[in-house]
Amino acid sequence: MTFQNYKSFWDNKATTMQGAMIAVDGSTDENTVRLTGIYSADQATKALELTATDRVLELGCGVGRIGHELAPHVGYWHGVDISANMIAQARERLQKFDNVGLSELTRTSLSEFPDASFDKAYCIAVFIHMDKEDFFLYLRELNRVLKPGGRIFFDHWNLASTVGWRRWFLEVQQYVDVDPSVRKDVARNQFTTPQEVSVFLQHAGFEELGNWSESPWVQALGAKPGAGLDIAAARARAAANGADIEYTPLWTELFNQLMDVTIGEMKPQAMLELLLDDNRGKEIPMFRAMFLGIWRLNEKHWGAAPTV
Ligand SMILES: C[S@@+](CC[C@H](N)C(=O)[O-])C[C@H]1O[C@@H](n2cnc3c(N)ncnc32)[C@H](O)[C@@H]1O
Repeated sequence: MTFQNYKSFWDNKATTMQGAMIAVDGSTDENTVRLTGIYSADQATKALELTATDRVLELGCGVGRIGHELAPHVGYWHGVDISANMIAQARERLQKFDNVGLSELTRTSLSEFPDASFDKAYCIAVFIHMDKEDFFLYLRELNRVLKPGGRIFFDHWNLASTVGWRRWFLEVQQYVDVDPSVRKDVARNQFTTPQEVSVFLQHAGFEELGNWSESPWVQALGAKPGAGLDIAAARARAAANGADIEYTPLWTELFNQLMDVTIGEMKPQAMLELLLDDNRGKEIPMFRAMFLGIWRLNEKHWGAAPTV
């Protein structure tokens, strides 16, 4: 089915909790979404130097995968999303927190928030699903709602990495025989480069503090100038924390191998073998949980999923 607007695309995916989780990052259950949420929350915490008093905004919060892990550690967390169904699923998952707000967006604007109302903001796996104009408009809005000295952390698919290019080429192949006069899905995966991200950040009014691009993701950290923020010192801290912010080489390797399985170049049993030794890194239990969940959904093609 081809969707012509963001809202209907994401609402359609998020009619059930499991559908919404699969749409946000491929997780099929609460246990997996907690594991991936902790991983992403750790990256955001390091990048944004989150503190217990920060007012934090997440653009495109989905089921509150990351907010669930951050809310206990910040002053106030607010999630916004274009999909009413995603917001409903997030409300269910986050109802136990009393420092959380959620709202549905109606267009590419954060007009419900006054200027300078948040200390930190982040946006993970969202700009990849929209037109470049909307990506830039949101960055400009994020600049407006951040306080001077505030920080923004976000990501985008990275055409300039080997694995990122491979991921992009999977998209390209879908369109080889498609009628080019039919508009493509508005929320399909889009890609960028580290340089394009730097240009967007700068024109949206941010100073770039970090731009990591060894993985299939470009991950960017920006600051809204002002309030005496020492940009050089903030850049130096971001560089020093880079290993905890950037997707690791193991993450990239496992992601690449998951693509092998998806396109039939690796047997699922061989993939599982690679995911049995937790000593390889913190990514292993997370990828194992995710992979077994995907296997359970694919039993018709892959055979019965093992219990590990
Ligand atoms: C892949 S999910 C990621 C969710 C969340 N950031 C996470 O990492 O768990 C993308 C999310 O962005 C939201 N989204 C997509 N297009 C949007 C737009 N134009 N404005 C705001 N949210 C959008 C979707 O509804 C969905 O919840």
